[in-house]
Amino acid sequence: MTAIGIHDIAIATGHHVLELDDLAERLGVDPAKYHVGIGQDAFSVPAPDEDIVTMGAAAAKEIIDRHGVEGIRTVLFATESGVDQSKAAGVFVHGLLGLPQSVRVVELKQACYGGTAAVQLALGIVARAPHERVLVIAADVARYDVDTAAEPTQGAGAAAVLVTADPDLIEIEPAAGVFTADVDDFWRPNDRSTALVDGRLSVTAYVDAFVGAWDDLVAQGGPGYEDIVRWVHHQPFTKMAIKAHRKLAQHVGQPFDDAELALGFTYNKQTGNTYTASIWIALAALLDLDDELDGQRIAMFSYGSGSVGELLTGIVRPGYRAHRREGRVRSLLEARVPLTVDAYRELHAAGAATSEDTERPRVTTAPYRFAGVRGGARRYEPTTQD
Ligand code: COA
Repeated sequence: MTAIGIHDIAIATGHHVLELDDLAERLGVDPAKYHVGIGQDAFSVPAPDEDIVTMGAAAAKEIIDRHGVEGIRTVLFATESGVDQSKAAGVFVHGLLGLPQSVRVVELKQACYGGTAAVQLALGIVARAPHERVLVIAADVARYDVDTAAEPTQGAGAAAVLVTADPDLIEIEPAAGVFTADVDDFWRPNDRSTALVDGRLSVTAYVDAFVGAWDDLVAQGGPGYEDIVRWVHHQPFTKMAIKAHRKLAQHVGQPFDDAELALGFTYNKQTGNTYTASIWIALAALLDLDDELDGQRIAMFSYGSGSVGELLTGIVRPGYRAHRREGRVRSLLEARVPLTVDAYRELHAAGAATSEDTERPRVTTAPYRFAGVRGGARRYEPTTQD
């Protein structure tokens, strides 16, 4: 049977960064609460001319530059911070990237889980038509009200994932564990630009979904715990993954050391929560930084509040190291422009979506920018006109 899975992953993030040390100082909080207690160091903040479309397009551009458009007939855009209630964000990306018209584009939503649903759909499309390649884009801006417990767990970022037959990076195995429970741990009503979250409930809901998805994976004939050499998890904050994994290890009666998850936290500790993109950014970090994955089985746990969980496993393709982009992600993270707490809060206050006509200042140096709203419609453009 043809192997189907992840051929490439590209990452984008916001133009700015807020160091959590600065937020801790402003709020009179011990910085160790952020670095150790929740396991985050900083978070990305979009410039006024950035949003999910510009970040998603930047990540997707890298994929198209590397692999061309041949065989791409489907673009799936997953987000929970959509910019329009009707038009899929992926249609803007399609236009910016100049993709062929013989392409279907749609947006998917189920909190942070949407990107994994998109990858599952992509795997199905490629299984039916192995000559096709599916471009999955997951992009989000995590925004909570200032002066709430969730404020330090904001973030922004995007991942573009190319799903193909005979992939360079990971063959995804057919068995998956899934779990759904109706729970109000996190949500964003239509009249709000910031999410509402019951942080403590989100921890127990995440843990329940992880253990439930594991049990379902076992029932589906998936691999044993001891056959999985590495794990990556959705990371609303990295400590969440540790808390959940401790419970799973207890559940299956296996030893677990927190340090086992450290490499997969490397990028997310810097971007903050990127919702749908979080698990793919974690996976990119693992593939970039772990040298011993040739032919090894890894597990990927995706969680979307509300709530849906899914546990996938895959075999890392021998030779994956030849396709690493580690330098690229590090330089993206290092290039972010630091904000003071006042400047971040000013951007936060101005960050709500609007249908009023506006012009956005030129700030971002990413390939595409949000120019503003004209005639009630959002306008995007390349950052450098050539
Ligand atoms: N040094 C080290 N650790 C410290 C500390 C210090 N000085 N002060 C506190 N901590 C630890 C606490 O013990 C706690 O650890 P534990 O959870 O292992 O017990 C952790 O830091 C957080 O402290 P807590 O008081 O619970 O934080 P909080 O009330 O400020 O809220 C979150 C933390 C994560 C719940 C909150 O940021 C949140 O709701 N974030 C959003 C979560 C989310 O997005 N959920 C939905 C998606 S799944």
